[in-house]
Amino acid sequence: MANSKALGTGGRKSARDLKIRVKTAKGRKIASTKWLERQLNDPYVARARAEGYRSRAAFKIKEMDERHKLFKRGMRVVDLGAAPGGWSQVAAKAVGSTPEHPLVVGIDYLDMDPIPGVILLKKDFTEDDAPAMLEAALGGHKADVVMSDMAWPTTGHRATDHLRIVHLIEIAADFAIQVLKPGGSFVAKVFQGGTEHELLHMLKRHFRSTFHAKPPASRADSSEAYLVAMGFKGVEEDGGDVDD
Ligand SMILES: C[S@@+](CC[C@H](N)C(=O)[O-])C[C@H]1O[C@@H](n2cnc3c(N)ncnc32)[C@H](O)[C@@H]1O
Repeated sequence: MANSKALGTGGRKSARDLKIRVKTAKGRKIASTKWLERQLNDPYVARARAEGYRSRAAFKIKEMDERHKLFKRGMRVVDLGAAPGGWSQVAAKAVGSTPEHPLVVGIDYLDMDPIPGVILLKKDFTEDDAPAMLEAALGGHKADVVMSDMAWPTTGHRATDHLRIVHLIEIAADFAIQVLKPGGSFVAKVFQGGTEHELLHMLKRHFRSTFHAKPPASRADSSEAYLVAMGFKGVEEDGGDVDD
C-alpha cells in the first residue's frame, strides 16, 4: 500500500524502535505513560498533524480508500461516529464536498468543530430518530458510502462489550441497507470475534463482495479490524430484498 511504503514500517514500531522515551512521572499511571510514549513515537500521529487531519484514524479510511476505491467525486457519504472528524475530512476531500454543496453527513454524540463541506449532527446514533435525521441531512438523496468507526467505551466485561459492539454494527448495517444506492459501500469497525455469523450472512446477501480489512494504520496489537461490504444490490420497490 502507498502509505505503508511511505512510512517504511507501515506505521508499526516495536518497543526497541522507540525514539522518544517518557519517564513515569509522579501521579502518572504506567498505562498513561505508555500511551504518551506511543503517541509521541507514532508516525501516523505526526503525519496527521502535518497534513491537517484531526485524528490518526484518518489514515485508516484513506488507506482503505486507496486499496478498495471507496470514494469518487460527487459521491454522498455518511460517517457514523465521526468525532473528532478525521474520516469526514478524508471523505469530504475525496468526493469534493463544499459548504455550498455538502456531500458528507457525520453523526456523533460528542461535540465537534465544524468541517467545511460536512453536515455534522450531535446525536446518539442508537436513538430512534437518528436514522431519519441523517436521511433528512442527505436532502432526500441516497448515499454511496456508509462508514462507521463507532465503538462504545469498554466496560471491561468481555461478554457485555461484545454484545454492545455487535448491536452497534447491526444497526449501522440496517441503516446502510436502508439508505444506500445500488452499488454503494458499507464500512464498519469490528473487533476480532465481533462479526457475527448472522450479520456476515445478511451482508453477503445484500452486497456483491464482503471482506475484512486491517489497514496498516490500524495498530497491529489492536483487535480492531474493518468489515467492508461493496456493491450493494439494492432493495426492491416493495421493500423486499434483492437476492441472487
Ligand atoms: C474511534 S472514534 C471515531 C474517529 C473518527 N473516525 C475520526 O477519524 O476522527 C469513535 C467515535 O464513535 C462515537 N460513537 C460511539 N458510539 C456512538 C453512538 N452510539 N452514536 C454516535 N457516536 C458514537 C464516539 O463518540 C467516538 O467519537
